[in-house]
Amino acid sequence: MSNDPEPSAGGYRSGGVDDLPAIQRVDVAVFGKDLAYPYFVLRQLFDLFKEYSVVVDDDGEIVGYALIGVEPGSDASPAVAWLLGLGVVPEHRCQGYGGELLSRALDLCEKAGIRTVKITVRPTNASANKLYEKAGFRTVHAENTYFGPGEPRDVLCLELGRELAAVTY
Ligand SMILES: CC(C)(COP(=O)(O)OP(=O)(O)OC[C@H]1O[C@@H](n2cnc3c(N)ncnc32)[C@H](O)[C@@H]1OP(=O)(O)O)[C@@H](O)C(=O)NCCC(=O)NCCS
Repeated sequence: MSNDPEPSAGGYRSGGVDDLPAIQRVDVAVFGKDLAYPYFVLRQLFDLFKEYSVVVDDDGEIVGYALIGVEPGSDASPAVAWLLGLGVVPEHRCQGYGGELLSRALDLCEKAGIRTVKITVRPTNASANKLYEKAGFRTVHAENTYFGPGEPRDVLCLELGRELAAVTY
C-alpha cells in the first residue's frame, strides 16, 4: 500500500472537442509555444483518440490532461498505446494530478485490452521520469535527436498485465 498523499479532489473526466481551447492553453503553459501541439493537431488527435483522453478540472478550469494514441494490433501483434500528452499547469503541480491522470489513462488502456504502453520523455525531465518509474515504466530506447537536433528523448515502456500492480497513487 502506498504512503503517498491522496490526489487532490479534482474533477476527472474524458475530454471532448469542446475542451480543446482549454486543453491547448494547458499544453502551451506546460510545453511552451514551440513544443505544444498546434490546435489542428490536437483536434485531429481527439478525432482519433478522444475516448483515450482524461482531463482534470479545478473549480471548473481544466488544469491538466492526458491523451493516449493507439497503434492497432492484429492477431500476431497486439495493440500498443502511446502516451501522446501528459501535462499539469505549473501552479497546480505536486498535488497528485499528474499521477492520477497517468493512472486513469493506463486504466483506459487496460480496459481496452492493451498490454504495452510507450512514452517518450526528455532524459532530464526529473518529475516526469519519477512519475513514470513509479508507475513501472522502464527505458527501452534512447535517441539524441528523437524530436530533432537538441531534443533527445528516451522511450519508456510498460507491460500492463505484469506491472499494473506497481501503479499506486
Ligand atoms: C510531469 C507532470 C505531469 C507531473 O504532474 P504533477 O501534477 O506535478 O504530478 P504529481 O503531483 O502526481 O507528482 C509529481 C511527482 O513529481 C515529483 N517532482 C516534482 N518536481 C520534481 C523534480 N524537479 N524532480 C523530481 N521529482 C519531482 C513530486 O515530488 C511528485 O513525486 P511524489 O508523488 O513521489 O511526491 C508535470 O510536472 C508536468 O506537467 N510537467 C511538464 C510536462 C511534462 O513534462 N509532461 C510529461 C512529458 S513526457
